[in-house]
Amino acid sequence: MQSSTAPTSSLRLFDDRVLADPYPTYEALRNTGPAMHLEEYDVWAIPRHADLAAILKDPGAFGSADGIALTYFANHQVLAGTVLAADGDAHTRLRRVLHQQLGYRTMKLLTRRINDRAERLVDQYTASGRFDALALVRHMVCDTVMELMGLPGADRALLLDGAAATFDVFGPANERHLKALPLASRMAQTLREQLTRKTVTPGSWMDAIFQAVDAGQITEQDAVPLASAYTAASIDTTVLGLTDTLVQLARHPQQWQLLRRDPDHWATHAFHESLRLEAPIQGFGRLLTEPADVGGVHLEEGEQVWLLYGSAGRDPERWGSDADTYDLQRPGNRGHLAFGGGPHLCAGIPLAELQARAVLRALATRCSHLTLDGEPVRVLNNLLRGYGAAPLAVELSPRTSASGRTPEPCRQGPVP
Ligand code: HEM
Repeated sequence: MQSSTAPTSSLRLFDDRVLADPYPTYEALRNTGPAMHLEEYDVWAIPRHADLAAILKDPGAFGSADGIALTYFANHQVLAGTVLAADGDAHTRLRRVLHQQLGYRTMKLLTRRINDRAERLVDQYTASGRFDALALVRHMVCDTVMELMGLPGADRALLLDGAAATFDVFGPANERHLKALPLASRMAQTLREQLTRKTVTPGSWMDAIFQAVDAGQITEQDAVPLASAYTAASIDTTVLGLTDTLVQLARHPQQWQLLRRDPDHWATHAFHESLRLEAPIQGFGRLLTEPADVGGVHLEEGEQVWLLYGSAGRDPERWGSDADTYDLQRPGNRGHLAFGGGPHLCAGIPLAELQARAVLRALATRCSHLTLDGEPVRVLNNLLRGYGAAPLAVELSPRTSASGRTPEPCRQGPVP
């Protein structure tokens, strides 16, 4: 379905060429208008920050149910019943359970544990002076999420690869989508089989879901889809965002030195600036539940929009003529849309920030210099943007390690 006078394009947004470097395409879309109908996917690409922000705040007209992904299969089989794809009261009910587990107050109680973990891992990974930023951050985020999730039997590798596959499945029915289907289905199936009252750790995220069922806040059928919000959303996103932050800082030595002088102040800015510039989730959809205008383009009920978070972060109308530049001192850089917005604003911001601060602080304390040790390698995904490896080199600071201990001597070989 498509409005007759509207701009249309045969652009293939999810081809490898565009995924590898989407920014020229985003710029062309932003310059063309507020909405462009992409024939290939029968969806409206929304590239400008202001229009995205307005849509996110209007869930009455732009619904998430049946609208998040680009295929009927993903919207109906994978996303049905999840908090991400719920609207109205159903969304509020599910979101309340998440909020209790993921809010800033709860995260504050975890600060010490997360900082200790970051310091230990940073000591380990940087000891030889060379390390893969992705491996360090993956280790950190996986350990944290596995512990908080409270499903000790969960297969760590399946969680990691299954989450990336799930994001591939949210894209159009291209080769990447088809290849990812078996893995994404296996992760969903494993969650269904393993998640029971007996298998979860008391006091964990998963335990809280069953407590909410027992308290009548949600139903038994809500449990597995709600749990999938944790498994799919919490790992890859943070891993890609924080790895990119380290790469940006390695590319910008003066900004690394600035951060080192006051990590408690600059770490969060450094993380947000990277999310603005390289949104780990490049886009998500919405379905119009009534006719609506987007920047003057009239769209009909039943049409789908594709919110280009990755483009909004580069919009010069919002960020100025240096929108493509990494600048951790950029005023207001936390106002990006890489975490979405409105009622579906990412529920995991406090946890993502907490981990980012912990790793950056630990590295800043331990390493006087941070540089690239080779070109980072991009991995392509229908929705995610980030690196599959990011070799870095560090010079250890003569003072002490992040933990305050003298650093271990250089070690060769892989880090356990
Ligand atoms: C840098 C890290 C992260 C990024 C960039 C990110 C990005 C996003 C985005 C863009 C959305 C909105 C989706 C929409 O358009 O509707 C979202 C929602 C969500 N995120 Fe995150 N996320 C991150 C970390 C996390 C973490 C650590 C968790 C922890 C569990 C998490 C849990 C969720 C959940 C549950 C939702 C759904 C919220 C709702 O629909 O009400 N995310 N995230």
